[in-house]
Formats: sequence, C-alpha cells, structure tokens
Amino acid sequence: MSEKPVMNFKTIGVIGIGNIGSGLVVDLALHGMHTVAVDVSDEALAEARENILQAARLAPMFNKSASKLSREEILSRITFTTKLADVSNCEFIIENVTEDWNAKKPVYEQLDRIAPPSVHFGVNTSCIAIGRVAAITKRPDKIVGMHFMNPVHMKPTVEVIRGESTSQETLDAVKQLLGQLKKEAVVVNDKPGFVSNRISHLFMNEAASVFQDGVATAPQIDAIFKKCFGHKMGPLETADLIGIDTVVRSLDVLYDSYQDPKFRCCAVLRQMADSGHYGRKSGRGFYDYSSKGS
Ligand SMILES: NC(=O)c1ccc[n+]([C@@H]2O[C@H](COP(=O)([O-])OP(=O)(O)OC[C@H]3O[C@@H](n4cnc5c(N)ncnc54)[C@H](O)[C@@H]3O)[C@@H](O)[C@H]2O)c1
Repeated sequence: MSEKPVMNFKTIGVIGIGNIGSGLVVDLALHGMHTVAVDVSDEALAEARENILQAARLAPMFNKSASKLSREEILSRITFTTKLADVSNCEFIIENVTEDWNAKKPVYEQLDRIAPPSVHFGVNTSCIAIGRVAAITKRPDKIVGMHFMNPVHMKPTVEVIRGESTSQETLDAVKQLLGQLKKEAVVVNDKPGFVSNRISHLFMNEAASVFQDGVATAPQIDAIFKKCFGHKMGPLETADLIGIDTVVRSLDVLYDSYQDPKFRCCAVLRQMADSGHYGRKSGRGFYDYSSKGS
C-alpha cells in the first residue's frame, strides 16, 4: 500500500483555451479548482472568457449536479494570461493547443524548463502519440495522455493514455485529478489516435465521403446513426462539435503515423477547413449555427 499522501489539486495550468481547453476550464471551475489559463493573444483569451462564462451559466440546465456559480465566482477561479511562465506554480498542467506537432513541440520545450520537475503534464491530443511528447522532455515518466471528451463538463469519462515511460505515480495523480472532477479514467496504451479517435475519425471521414458523393444529406446521415444505431450524435454533428479543422489535422496525424490510405482525409472536409467552415465554433459546418447563438 502506498505511503505517499494523495494530493488534493487546487491550481491547474491549462494551455490552449480553444474549443476543448475552454470546456476544461469550465469543469475545473465548477469543481472548485483554480485555473491559470494560457493562450497566445488577448483576443483568444477574450473569446475563451465569453465561451467559458456562457458554458458555466448553462451547465446546471444540462446537469442537475453542476454547481450554480455567479459570473464573479467563475471569474475569481480563473487567471487568464498570455505568459506561459505564469503556470510555474501550478500543481498539474494540461496542454490543449492546436493538433499540430509544430504547435505543441515548442510549448513542451518551454514548459519543461518552467515547471518544477515534480509536475505532471497531461497531453490533451486527439491523435499525437504520448511517447512523442515524452521524448522531448526531461520528465518522460510524468507525461500522460488525457483525452477529454467534448463538452468536458458533461462527459463522465476520459481516455487516459499510458505512454511507454508513464509511471504508476503519474497515473495515480491523473486518477486523483479526474476523481476531483467526478470523472472515470479508461487507461489505454499509446498508439496514434488511441482507441477513440482511431475509430471515430474513420466514421467521420467516411460519413463526409458519403455526403460528398450525394448519397444522403447531413441530417439523413446523422439520423441513421442516431435512430438506427442508437448513437447520441451522428458523425457529422460530431465533426461540427469537435471542429472540422481539428478533425482534418487529426486525420493527417493518423495518415502520417500509419501510412494507411484508410485515414486519408476526404476532399470535402479539407475544403470546409480551408474555407473556415469549422462547425459550431465558427457558426457553420455541416450545419448552420449562426442564428442559434451556439
Ligand atoms: N475539439 C475537441 O473536441 C477535442 C477533444 C479532445 C482533444 N482535443 C485536442 O485538444 C487540442 C486542442 O483542440 P481544440 O479543438 O480545442 O482546438 P482549437 O483550435 O479550438 O484551440 C486550440 C487553442 O490553442 C491555442 N494555441 C495555439 N498555440 C498555442 C501556444 N503556443 N500557447 C498557448 N495556446 C496556443 C490557440 O490559440 C487556440 O485557442 C488538440 O490537440 C485536439 O486534438 C480536441
């Protein structure tokens, strides 16, 4: 039995406050933790702040057990900053920057210098292997994949990825933190895309191909998944929720990693990403969100 006292985490560094990072900040605030939230610009932080406040306000409507917090209470639990060095006193750091190795790599190189050696880094990536991150830090045993589901505060389970070097102590720390968020961990091994996205990106990509071929409309494709298969969401709604740009980047990581044509991104997805039709976060994807304020 472990003699080591289990740490109750109070302050978490969250790097990258886009679609999934802002959801994570909401969840941490709803569970009483303080976040140091880092993004690249004041504009990105201002947008994240509004998204966080809106999601926190709506949270109790979707989840009866979610805390009802005032705007001031939420904001008092978050420090917004563009300086990565501000995470230096955080007890655990979770990175959620763009799904692009060229974006993530410099963040870890800096974080490794800034954060005390005892601090664990959670890698929130859709597809990038955790070993790749571990290899560029001096703390490979403290690097662990934390693939959160979207929207974070409504999803009770996290896909946790144990890299080849990830220690049991790190897994214990992750489980402690997820326990504070009332979440369960499903721990899997490290291969690009892990379980969830290695499978889900195949069906999102194929659903987009079916749409591209004119076999069915987006609502019809999603209806087959929901009404025939019993899924809560269809593949094209899911792509819109994740962000089409992130789906395309993830497919590119899978294709590069496995060199398997089954992961080749279909033309319509790439065209949508190139046109800025990212889904919910931009107001237009397979569906139009511009009049719904969502
Ligand atoms: N969207 C999802 O549903 C989802 C779910 C699980 C995991 N992920 C993963 O989480 C990560 C982020 O995805 P997203 O969908 O939120 O993308 P996003 O594009 O919505 O957000 C990425 C954020 O990272 C910021 N960023 C980029 N470089 C940075 C840097 N150097 N320092 C600080 N911030 C920086 C960007 O400004 C942006 O706000 C990706 O690796 C993605 O695969 C996404």
